[in-house]
Amino acid sequence: LIVFAEHRYYGQTLPFGKDSFTPKNIRYLTSQQALADYALLLTDLRKQYGNVATISFGGSYGGMLAAWFRIKYPHITQGAIASSAPVIQFEGLTPPNRFMQIITKTFNESLAQEQFYCANYIKQAFELYEKTSQQMDWKTLQNRFHVCKPLSGYDYLKLRYFIETAIMYMAMIDYPTPADFLQPLPAWPVTFTCKKIKEIVTKSDQYALLDALHAIDNVYYNSSGKLKCFDLNQGISPDLGDQGWDYQACTEMIMPIGSEKTPDNMFLPNPWNLQAFIVQCQKTWNITGRPNWAVTYYGGKDIKAASNIVFTNGNLDPWSGGGIVQSISDSVIALVIENGAHHLDLRSASKEDPESVIKARQLHVEQIKKWVDQYKK
Ligand SMILES: *[C@@H]1O[C@H](CO)[C@@H](O)[C@H](O)[C@H]1NC(C)=O
Ligand SMILES: *[C@@H]1O[C@H](CO)[C@@H](O)[C@H](O)[C@H]1NC(C)=O
Repeated sequence: LIVFAEHRYYGQTLPFGKDSFTPKNIRYLTSQQALADYALLLTDLRKQYGNVATISFGGSYGGMLAAWFRIKYPHITQGAIASSAPVIQFEGLTPPNRFMQIITKTFNESLAQEQFYCANYIKQAFELYEKTSQQMDWKTLQNRFHVCKPLSGYDYLKLRYFIETAIMYMAMIDYPTPADFLQPLPAWPVTFTCKKIKEIVTKSDQYALLDALHAIDNVYYNSSGKLKCFDLNQGISPDLGDQGWDYQACTEMIMPIGSEKTPDNMFLPNPWNLQAFIVQCQKTWNITGRPNWAVTYYGGKDIKAASNIVFTNGNLDPWSGGGIVQSISDSVIALVIENGAHHLDLRSASKEDPESVIKARQLHVEQIKKWVDQYKK
């Protein structure tokens, strides 16, 4: 039996209907409450189906929940498959710049076999972007980036964020097959984009590098080819329903991510600032976040006392920096999936799958069998 239990405050599971996201009503949105929901649901299902072994699965935040569920409720779940679960993307455990370094690497290596180092060009392109906005040449930026409305000073960060978002998500969902996870994208979207960039940057045009950045936007936001111009308020995905996540990221899931000027980071500097982040969240949700709580409550990487968890991470995925990539014990196992993006192992099998992800799925099956046998004994 596969049970897909929707997390409270997501999708249709709105405890206060359309008023669920007011500062007063949203207080019941925590990972602890979500895990308790699962515990009650499974206890009830086990009354119907008997005390069968139960395995928790999840990718991304769902992977964190899967692992934490096993840690907190070992009598209710016999093991967990936690894919791309950034359980140590927290204050003091993972450097904030790590995320950017991984994206840079993913882009830089995507066409390395053609001796084309894509991240170098993106880095230069961002520098040109910054210079052009410092010169307040909004006309050039609006034209080169096909933005619908005329730009002015305040849009400098907005457009930059629009481009950065496309880059980050593209690295996250750099899958071997066309996918429609956040936005419809071609197979290996990073390589696809870097090929376009390679063509563009050979042109003798002083703004060719800006066109290279536009090419990224075009692949990510305009795969249909139907958009005449970009509205910078367009979200990362039309139906992600990320209001709940925004609140969680402000309260117990404060994940330090920021860009620092290092040779292996192609992004413009934008260092992580915990205090500024907390103040911004106070303004939005009237609540003061607790940056250390998740680690205090779940253990961060100090989870030697846990058992029966598989942590997988794709090396292309920026979230792998905040994941468990080394085994912790004989039964808390880590596996890095070469050429894998965000929770690729939980996506459908395809003939384009790299060998590494096939192996990961075999490991899952092996471990699940072991856990079920243990439970039966
Ligand atoms: C979207 O793609 C089409 C086809 O490639 C192109 O003509 C159009 O300019 C693109 N839109 C934007 C906003 O770049
Ligand atoms: C913000 O929270 C405080 C304390 O929790 C409460 O007294 C106040 O009414 C809240 N403000 C708003 C605007 O909800």
